[in-house]
Amino acid sequence: MHDEGLVTAEKLRTLISAEALAERVAALGQEIGAKMPEGDLTVVGVLRGAFIFMADLVRAIPRDIRCDFLGVRSYGDATESSGVVEITNDLLLPVEGQHVLLVEDIVDTGLTLRYLLDIIEARRPRSLHTCALLSKPSRRVVAPRVDFVGFEVPDQFVVGYGLDAAQRFRHLPYIAVLD
Ligand code: IMP
Ligand code: MG
Repeated sequence: MHDEGLVTAEKLRTLISAEALAERVAALGQEIGAKMPEGDLTVVGVLRGAFIFMADLVRAIPRDIRCDFLGVRSYGDATESSGVVEITNDLLLPVEGQHVLLVEDIVDTGLTLRYLLDIIEARRPRSLHTCALLSKPSRRVVAPRVDFVGFEVPDQFVVGYGLDAAQRFRHLPYIAVLD
């Protein structure tokens, strides 16, 4: 359906429609609002992949929240996660004493998330939870706890709704498999 709006040389196959995303994100917002501990909540989005998901998610969380962002870039070969990431934009706000929800686009091997959790944990937040729009459980190398997951997806490369392939396709309003 939406696939017809974008003409590319690559084949895009819709995996999760815009409507299904909206419905799931609304439910996640409610779940997060109900399950996160009481008190100041800072939602930290990992740039750039999480920017669209985060924008929709924070509007669905019925809580008083602060938004911040962590800009990261993976070292080395872009197709194989080393889990070592370079911080390109640090948080603006101190998270010490705050309840923090880290928002990722996708957890694949788990290496990136584990690394980011170590970085934030060192800053002594009051609590630290994680939310990922997508998870590829079959690909895990390490298993950092993901408290809130939008969808589990098979081991296929997906794009759209913030996720890219060499910086393209982030703007798609749906998630597609890139064939
Ligand atoms: P991990 O360290 O292997 O868990 O990799 C996590 C990061 O790899 C994500 O934040 C994405 O940037 C990227 N990634 C993993 N799988 C995909 C995919 O299917 N599409 C787009 N990016 C992906
Ligand atoms: Mg990413």
